[in-house]
Amino acid sequence: MTKLKSIIGDNYFQGYAYSYPHKSSYRPFENPLPLKDVWAQENKAQLFLYVHIPFCEMRCGFCNLFTIANPKASHESPFIQSLERQIIATKTALGKANFNRLAIGGGTPTFLSLPDLERLFYLMNTVMEADTIAIPSSVEMSPKTASAEKLALLKEKGTTRASIGVQSFLLEETKALGRPQKTVEVQQALQVIKDSGIPEMNIDLIYGMAGQTLQSWQYSLEQSVAFQPEEIFLYPLYVRPLTGLGSKEKAWNDHRLNLYRFGRDFLLSKGYEQVTMRIFRNTKAAQMPTPPYNSPEDGMVGLGVGARSYTKTLHYSSEYAVGRKGVKNIIHDYNEKTSQDFQKVLYGTRLSLEEQKRRYVIKSILEGSYLDFKGYHNFFGTAALDDLPELNELYDLNLATKEEPKLQLNQAGLELSDVIGPWLYSERVNAMMQDFELV
Ligand SMILES: C[S@@+](CC[C@H](N)C(=O)[O-])C[C@H]1O[C@@H](n2cnc3c(N)ncnc32)[C@H](O)[C@@H]1O
Ligand code: SF4
Repeated sequence: MTKLKSIIGDNYFQGYAYSYPHKSSYRPFENPLPLKDVWAQENKAQLFLYVHIPFCEMRCGFCNLFTIANPKASHESPFIQSLERQIIATKTALGKANFNRLAIGGGTPTFLSLPDLERLFYLMNTVMEADTIAIPSSVEMSPKTASAEKLALLKEKGTTRASIGVQSFLLEETKALGRPQKTVEVQQALQVIKDSGIPEMNIDLIYGMAGQTLQSWQYSLEQSVAFQPEEIFLYPLYVRPLTGLGSKEKAWNDHRLNLYRFGRDFLLSKGYEQVTMRIFRNTKAAQMPTPPYNSPEDGMVGLGVGARSYTKTLHYSSEYAVGRKGVKNIIHDYNEKTSQDFQKVLYGTRLSLEEQKRRYVIKSILEGSYLDFKGYHNFFGTAALDDLPELNELYDLNLATKEEPKLQLNQAGLELSDVIGPWLYSERVNAMMQDFELV
């Protein structure tokens, strides 16, 4: 195992480990797997339901998510019909299943028309039997699509969290990101969310774009805090292949680390607490009682093209692309799928016991607040520090507090999250990711 110390260097932004194994390590399975068999042995008592809507009103220069901008009507309406076939096939394969969380993400779910959104909730409630009024649910949106009518519908259907991508409150900065956006429209959208009565609002901001200074960063942070959102996500800019920004070779003054520290200290001083490197939560926000769901242990059912699904030993999804042509082809294939096609799993990755353990640790310390040694032991029957002794280096380098029974990154560790994540990937996953040919 490579020593963490040897790879830290000056670059604190080596990769965002938002799920493990990364989808670029997925491959076609040798033989199609029946969906029913994939879920047969799983505990379905407390699952996460995720719906991916792969449409947006524009393709932002920084974004490598699975989505298509300005799709023709010929994409959208077959998509909803295909989604319905997938929902029915999935429910048939799962049988009795209990969903304790719902997230609708993308892309931009609020790009869908009101009737399509309404249909989506109808299918969730009646076919999937996910009670959207009773469970916590989160919906992603962009300022342009966050209309009062759509927010009212989401509230009526039980949405508890509205997450909006703002990125910056300055036109010059959103231009530099390849997402020109009028600040007054952003402010109107934030007010619409506030007025909707949806209990939680999250604002996404990006730091590190060309031309941004500590002063302009402070301006966006102040504007965000003025709306008192329950959560603020601070994303360091990553310029990725096949994106608008990635195709332009530009000299870039990378001062993300300074901006990160400034943003963190600013939010801490305004009554926010840090949950992960990116997540800041308003300490005044009420904690709502929620049904149990434990992210490293419980499974996820993904619906819609681009969504992933997680069982204990198998992760699967549709294929992945970023370029417009690649995304278009995958959406086209999805729209052509029959009910029988949806009963087969074609693409994904199997998780060996070692990968399951790595995933548990990565999710716990980077996406959650800490690794619970007891929970890990109950789940695997072994001790985390015996399975992954390299974790001791986090203590040796003073990046984590040794407070039995948990391992938690401290401030120095949190700012190195994007180094620690990739460091914990297995050699196999690293090799598969490097081999992946992105289209
Ligand atoms: C699904 S979008 C949010 C909702 C909506 N589509 C929008 O853009 O307003 C997810 C978030 O990921 C962040 N993000 C995506 N790609 C990024 C990148 N390359 N660098 C930094 N942040 C990124 C952005 O802050 C974005 O708001
Ligand atoms: S950042 Fe949001 S609106 Fe922009 S392309 Fe990505 S998903 Fe779509």
